[in-house]
Amino acid sequence: MPINWFPGHMNSTRQAIKDRVQAGLDVVIELLDARLPGSSSNPMLAALTTGRPSLKVLNKQDLADPAQTDAWLAFYNAQPHTRAIALDAGEKAPARALIKACRELAPLRGDMHKPLRVMICGIPNVGKSTLINTLVGRKAAKTGDEPGITKLEQKFVLEHGFYLFDTPGMLWPRIAIEQSGYHLAASGAIGRNAFDEEEVALELIAVLKRRYPERLQARYGLAELGADDSVLEAIGVKRGAKIRGGAVQMHKAAEALLVDYRQGLLGRITLETPEEMAAWRREAAEAQDRKAAEQEAARAADKERRSGKRSAASGDA
Ligand code: G4P
Repeated sequence: MPINWFPGHMNSTRQAIKDRVQAGLDVVIELLDARLPGSSSNPMLAALTTGRPSLKVLNKQDLADPAQTDAWLAFYNAQPHTRAIALDAGEKAPARALIKACRELAPLRGDMHKPLRVMICGIPNVGKSTLINTLVGRKAAKTGDEPGITKLEQKFVLEHGFYLFDTPGMLWPRIAIEQSGYHLAASGAIGRNAFDEEEVALELIAVLKRRYPERLQARYGLAELGADDSVLEAIGVKRGAKIRGGAVQMHKAAEALLVDYRQGLLGRITLETPEEMAAWRREAAEAQDRKAAEQEAARAADKERRSGKRSAASGDA
């Protein structure tokens, strides 16, 4: 899908993370969207913090499929120096579980002489401000790229010997995988002018038909599910997205479906599994390798053509 995605440049974020690593960092918290954990992750963070224990926090679990959340937790918990928990950012008790998990990841730190230094990162809209506010017990200032938002690192003392750092700059999602683009758009992580809502809705329908067909049928009273575009049309009919003459306004139907999904009105739905994500990553890497090989071959052919021309020209002389 062509996503007109122009994330703000990541250099300032990269630098802020590097600065924190250099100043001292014991645990990295990556906040993920439990509905799309793989797509809401940013590989740059892992690359900049290698060797540091990592806590994956699957937020918005109230909107995600509990069985799939368990699968993702098991997937992350099986990785070295990694722990994973799921929570709703607004809930006080689960948010406190995060402190316990960090302490377990760095057991040698966490007193006055050796405070536990934890950095929290996540793509926009994943719930970072909500979680920090819950942990801190008040409304904390947002860090980010927009005007009026602090560009300085913020430090919160969550309890004795426990420092939480919120880095400035935006950790934009990286859309190297087509499916991730769709999932990020469906979840609301990407600004709505950046993608075609109808296309995203059709992809969402494809996922729902495959994994949660009965939810789709129940929500829109559909006796059966036909082709994806006819399902979208039927949703439009149910939601009164018709214009005079009877035709369905497909973009209105798409908007209705996306709003319903984001609000959890279709139930708790996860868009991707760890296995699917691994396969998409492999495919994307292979496609990238193929592209690099093609470019290299084209460059070599071009060089040969030019050197052929040169020797022909010197033969002419
Ligand atoms: P950010 O700092 O990472 O950009 O995200 P922020 O906390 O601003 O949260 C983005 C949206 O996600 C907010 O909704 C917030 O309420 C919602 N949210 C955060 N955590 C959870 C969660 O665990 N479950 C659910 N269901 N929603 C969550 P909003 O509609 O944009 O704002 P508001 O109407 O809540 O103010």
